[in-house]
Amino acid sequence: MEATVLGKSIIVPSVQELAKGSKLVTVPDRYIRDDVDALISSTGDDNNDLQVPIIDMEGLLSGDGVELMKLHLACQDWGFFQLINHGVKLSLVEKLKIEIQEFFNLSIEEKKKFWQGPNEIEGYGQAFVLSEDQKLDWADMFFLTTFPKHERRPHLFPNLHPPFSDALEDFSDETRKLGIKILECLGKTLGIGSLREVFGEGQQMMRMNYYPPCPEPHTVVGLTAHSDAVALTILLQLNDMDGLQIMKDGEWFLVKPVPNAFVVNVGDILEILSNGTYKSVLHRAMVNVSKERLSIGSFYSPSLTNEIGPMTELTGPGTPGKFRRITMADYWKGFFTRTLDGKSYLDAMRIQDSDEASV
Ligand code: OGA
Ligand code: NI
Repeated sequence: MEATVLGKSIIVPSVQELAKGSKLVTVPDRYIRDDVDALISSTGDDNNDLQVPIIDMEGLLSGDGVELMKLHLACQDWGFFQLINHGVKLSLVEKLKIEIQEFFNLSIEEKKKFWQGPNEIEGYGQAFVLSEDQKLDWADMFFLTTFPKHERRPHLFPNLHPPFSDALEDFSDETRKLGIKILECLGKTLGIGSLREVFGEGQQMMRMNYYPPCPEPHTVVGLTAHSDAVALTILLQLNDMDGLQIMKDGEWFLVKPVPNAFVVNVGDILEILSNGTYKSVLHRAMVNVSKERLSIGSFYSPSLTNEIGPMTELTGPGTPGKFRRITMADYWKGFFTRTLDGKSYLDAMRIQDSDEASV
């Protein structure tokens, strides 16, 4: 089967190349933002009252009711948690970290082999760039579909060198299985049984983010504030650089990396399926002056051939569905032809009071 092309993005220069060496002292205008609100609070050690919840996967798997309740509250109140005892081998994580760093360290000529085509969002480059005058993020990314295998672009995964592709293959398998286990727990905490049927065989994309150091870090954004359009994201921060911030009660909070934990977050699709019980929360990545920051996200969603909408178990006469039903293929086509703009895509899925009740 032909791989499905989901969208396109204007080709932009590599920020890593731009930031290389000590020559760059001022940031080009295309990256300068005037709309960045500062970090107001931090969930670091100095503020123990407010911490992104830490969830223990072993507790969830053993059916521990307290841990399941913590998971429920994390998805409802924060949309984010840090997952410990996730079961993915440390040796695999370490191997992957080295391989990703080496990948980004390749010469630009080598990386050009993976460069995005004009009609693609997958590959090396940037996504969501739709106009020449749009402000750009201070980062490069490498984005690719990993599952199902027939949706992989022939020039991407198959062309990666074996130590990297092996590590990526194993890590994508592990994070996909882990994502399915988390979703099974969420089926329980939502009280609707299994979410398996909605997901079908599922779809997984991976994105590696490379945020170069920046001479004027407060004038740029590494990754524009957004919610993740997918169902569930599992993020690994590769080095110990802070940068991920999430919106909580109208303020930006820094997510302090917990060693060996994954940052897991609710995506828009899970907000839709749960009819708004679980929240996909705004987050962004910021950069710093001294050192690059790297991360890899594993994004899990229902199969392209499936349809999504609020789970029927969660809607009824007194609780109408808040979101439209849509096929995954149409959902992605809509998403990848927009710029990344907060939670605006989810809002476009919302049923307005003026709409006829259709669910
Ligand atoms: C993402 C994301 C945050 C980070 O890739 O969707 O939010 O810290 N990444 O890289
Ligand atoms: Ni994100």
